[in-house]
Amino acid sequence: MSDAVLEVRDVSVSYPGGGVALDRASLSVAAGEIAVVVGPNGAGKTTLCRAVAGYLPGERVRVSGSVKVRGAELAGKDPANIARAGVCFIPERQKVFATLTVAENLELARRQTARDPRSAAVDDEHVSRMFPILRERRTQPAGLLSGGEQQMLALARAFLSRPALIVIDEPSLGLAPVVIQTVLGALRQVAAELNVAVLLADQNIINTRELATRLYEMRAGELIQSQTGAAVGDYFAGHGAPAR
Ligand SMILES: Nc1ncnc2c1ncn2[C@@H]1O[C@H](COP(=O)(O)OP(=O)(O)OP(=O)(O)O)[C@@H](O)[C@H]1O
Ligand SMILES: [Mg+2]
Repeated sequence: MSDAVLEVRDVSVSYPGGGVALDRASLSVAAGEIAVVVGPNGAGKTTLCRAVAGYLPGERVRVSGSVKVRGAELAGKDPANIARAGVCFIPERQKVFATLTVAENLELARRQTARDPRSAAVDDEHVSRMFPILRERRTQPAGLLSGGEQQMLALARAFLSRPALIVIDEPSLGLAPVVIQTVLGALRQVAAELNVAVLLADQNIINTRELATRLYEMRAGELIQSQTGAAVGDYFAGHGAPAR
């Protein structure tokens, strides 16, 4: 697909001592799309996210295949290079700099892109409106925020860094249902405002029903199904998610 922001082709990953955690995965995500990867524990969702973002630890992890973002080959590059190519990765854990304040976390994200002072001020205003809680907590270490608040800070950082692709792993993990709705609502808003491509991994199919424009199902390291359009809604309905 020529207008794809993310193109993953035949990516395989094996961890030392383990089997194949990701088996020739191929997918693509266009600007404005939210692709959701669902699958049970151990299916390989996190491995896929990390392969895209360049966060596979250790030289003994075997990785092959192609990961292109806006046409640039990123396979084998380190996470900093991949971030500079426009990929914002929000991992399951350690999604913010815990010992830095909320304001410092935001400032670091802002510095990733050049801006004139006026547009920086506009961004500040906008982030404060989108995430009022972060303004109240500006001077606190980010590590003291609740799980939901840390997720909001991670999304605010994503917004400020103006990525082409957001990769977000289990955004609903450990959060109360009402907080999940707030977090996913914020993700949807950030994605729409930036017209960014989103790759989201979640075990819980119900959480992401409202959000997915494209759905991939993963089992034992393989992407076994892909749905778009109305079929996404049918898939969720067939798996017990309530109708919209
Ligand atoms: N660092 C590692 N070393 C060895 N094996 C690993 C490592 N990380 C993951 N695995 C294995 O790779 C497979 C895929 O794991 P992965 O974490 O990608 O699954 P997941 O779909 O994200 O699961 P969950 O829903 O529990 O987050 C599993 O069998 C897991 O045990
Ligand atoms: Mg995982």
